Amino acid sequence: MKVNGRIVENPEHWVDLIKDRVELDDRLVKTVKRLYVLLYKPTGYITSKGDPEGRPTVYDLLKDVPSFVGTVGRLDEDTSGLLLLTNDTMLAERMTNPTFHVAKTYLVKCATRLSDESLQKLRQGIELKDGMTRPARVKRVRDAESKTFLELTITEGRNRQVRRMIEALDSKVLKLVRIQLGPLTLDGMKSGTWRILTEGELKELKALTRQ
Ligand code: URA
Repeated sequence: MKVNGRIVENPEHWVDLIKDRVELDDRLVKTVKRLYVLLYKPTGYITSKGDPEGRPTVYDLLKDVPSFVGTVGRLDEDTSGLLLLTNDTMLAERMTNPTFHVAKTYLVKCATRLSDESLQKLRQGIELKDGMTRPARVKRVRDAESKTFLELTITEGRNRQVRRMIEALDSKVLKLVRIQLGPLTLDGMKSGTWRILTEGELKELKALTRQ
């Protein structure tokens, strides 16, 4: 195999099929176009390529996407909302790298009415078993008799983080929707559909993750 004109003998050598020129037996291996897909994930789909238990995956909703795109972070099976997928591994890495502090906003329905003091704790940081959370932005959207609806913005992406933050306040998440990721929103999209990012959105994402 030749990569960018140099012979490579190590079969485990990593190539980037977008940026590298790869030749095999003197024939150019087709490069892949960069794709950036925004999916409005419904609940009931797992963020994984396959599932031993046969549950539906987000890829069942992306059958007509022309090449494989990997997920940028994850949403739980029972979380809905905005999921970004791409074959641009560098952008994906940066979007999930905690040093870039990419903001993710969730609409959260809590099983109890949360006090102002509890919201303040979310803002300041909460002790979880894997360490303190970074300060969050919190907006009380509305209260029902025994529920609170919040908009919560975090800049990390730990496993089940929002659910664990709310549980640390002795409450529970009843419904969780990711409504924003950096500059991307679900505006105008229907659950279960996907679209390609606009040039403008892509520019903003790149600016956000530039060092
Ligand atoms: N936090 C969670 O708890 N779950 C998600 O799916 C996303 C963020």
